[in-house]
Amino acid sequence: MWIGPVITEIYHKPGQRPGLWTGLVSGLWSGLWSGLWSLVSGLVSDPWSLVWSLVWSLIPGLVSGPVSGLVWSLVWSLVSGLWSGPGPGKAGTSLALDCGAGIGRVSKGVLFPVFERLELADMMEHFLLHAHEEYLGDDADRVETYYCYSLQEFTPSKNKYDVIWMQWVACHLTDWDLAEFLKKCKRALRPNGVLILKDNMARRGCKLDLVDSSISRHLDVMRAIVHKAGLEILDLEKQEGFPEVIMPVWMLAMR
Ligand SMILES: C[S@@+](CC[C@H](N)C(=O)[O-])C[C@H]1O[C@@H](n2cnc3c(N)ncnc32)[C@H](O)[C@@H]1O
Repeated sequence: MWIGPVITEIYHKPGQRPGLWTGLVSGLWSGLWSGLWSLVSGLVSDPWSLVWSLVWSLIPGLVSGPVSGLVWSLVWSLVSGLWSGPGPGKAGTSLALDCGAGIGRVSKGVLFPVFERLELADMMEHFLLHAHEEYLGDDADRVETYYCYSLQEFTPSKNKYDVIWMQWVACHLTDWDLAEFLKKCKRALRPNGVLILKDNMARRGCKLDLVDSSISRHLDVMRAIVHKAGLEILDLEKQEGFPEVIMPVWMLAMR
């Protein structure tokens, strides 16, 4: 049975049903508007855009006429699905690598909700054990491999990861080691893959922290290292909401 008349029956009381022509025109309009919405949401392209475009495109279809916007809606939803799905320039969501993962704080809060599988790298064995045995809980089943290496000695496999995430670990590497590791990361990205580096950035020059032996670099110094590694910065963003007394934290997206 074709579903159109049933839906019309539900949304229009007897005697209020619009004629075929009215329904066709209103369906056409709703289709066009929902299509426009789909295209805009596709452009914004967050993971929910397909769901939203489907919902938004069905609503006008449901309240229109017997031919209704349903057919149009489904067509536009399909188009928007194709539009907002994986496409040129978009990273996949299959596998991410968390570098300097520690006990898996970033993995748990940021990466697991997005990626199907993860790999974690850290030089401290007891951090990785804690991540696996306690902190990650059931998500630990989705960790493919734990690499217990210092990043200086670690070569991630080529062409493997959709995203490589480095949070608060670049500050533990010398300029040379960081550039060398970034080069290896570039080779380890799949087509459209993205490398994210998040770290404290000094307001001026470079600042050594004698307590944890980390080094914070000015954004321009970091850019120079990234450039040396042959990576292109796609976008960068300053972390908002931190008190002014705290060193600025920046995120760089690169490939
Ligand atoms: C400040 S913690 C950040 C942990 C995690 N990325 C987060 O944001 O919660 C730094 C982590 O980097 C690791 N680390 C420091 N130097 C490293 C190196 N050279 N190679 C690999 N891991 C390193 C430490 O063991 C620690 O787990």
